[in-house]
Amino acid sequence: MQHAISISKLSKVYDSGLAALQEVDLDIRNGEILALLGPNGAGKTTLISIVCGIVNPTNGKVSVQGHDIISEFRAARELIGLVPQELHVETFETVWDTVSYSRGLFGKKPKPELIEQLLRDLTLWDKKDNKILELSGGMKRRVMIAKALAHEPKILFLDEPTAGVDVELRKDMWQLVRRLREEGGVTIILTTHYIEEAEEIADRVGVINKGRLILVEEKKELMRKLGKKQLTLDLNDVLETLPEALGRYDLDLENGGERLVYRYDTQAERTGIGSLLADLNRAGISIKDLDTEQSSLEDIFVTLVEETR
Ligand SMILES: Nc1ncnc2c1ncn2[C@@H]1O[C@H](COP(=O)(O)OP(=O)(O)O)[C@@H](O)[C@H]1O
Ligand SMILES: [Mg+2]
Repeated sequence: MQHAISISKLSKVYDSGLAALQEVDLDIRNGEILALLGPNGAGKTTLISIVCGIVNPTNGKVSVQGHDIISEFRAARELIGLVPQELHVETFETVWDTVSYSRGLFGKKPKPELIEQLLRDLTLWDKKDNKILELSGGMKRRVMIAKALAHEPKILFLDEPTAGVDVELRKDMWQLVRRLREEGGVTIILTTHYIEEAEEIADRVGVINKGRLILVEEKKELMRKLGKKQLTLDLNDVLETLPEALGRYDLDLENGGERLVYRYDTQAERTGIGSLLADLNRAGISIKDLDTEQSSLEDIFVTLVEETR
């Protein structure tokens, strides 16, 4: 099956010598919502800018529905709508004109009913005759979204769409994103450094750090892994084998029997720790010390989030 976007061995070294992307391989499926998660400076905007033809890649290949972004630039680009991270909208034009103009840029015939629908969906309809410079920051961002959608793209990039955005717009945006995917089969790629946002909306999550795509995974799978924790129990006495009474727990005996490791699911209703401790006590196993540890994936996320604080 052809992918919405296929990225292979993509690297970018800026003139400054900075390697912003390093050998990124990523296939984006048609109709999926993919969240690219990563701290500031990870390379998210660079990746999007290359796919959209704003930045030249140093190495590697990108195709959009099979169209190479360099040799078939126009065919590739018209499939894409981009809501950039930075606001830059023409200030003296009206909302209606600037959104209609965006459609014209792609050589599409005027379709006023579509523009009207977009403006209504984005609660911009009563502002259609206002000049952009009269609008608040939130309204300008709505205009950016309308502009990105005006030529009916099959793929939509949202670069940090909710950074510094009010709750109202965030809700409207997620509603619109869901509807675009459900009704129009639009593929959506958004970047964010909020885990919660990825959790809320994405089908798949990619984590990018220091120019490398360090993992791409189904959100559910990621959450399952994220939800794993482990409890380490140092025992007072060496245990040769696990007592049968503890058979129902996911337990491993380590360090020559001095340590018990219990793995549990933090998403589960019960962690089982309470009953495990009671059963250990009943079996006459006494504990010297205990410690909990989160799985490495969660470690990655925690590190990422801390870096962006
Ligand atoms: N035009 C540029 N010239 C030189 N370095 C750049 C340029 N744009 C971005 N960078 C650098 O590339 C790295 C990745 O930036 P960017 O793609 O904007 O990351 P993100 O969007 O994940 O915050 C950063 O270190 C940034 O400073
Ligand atoms: Mg960015």
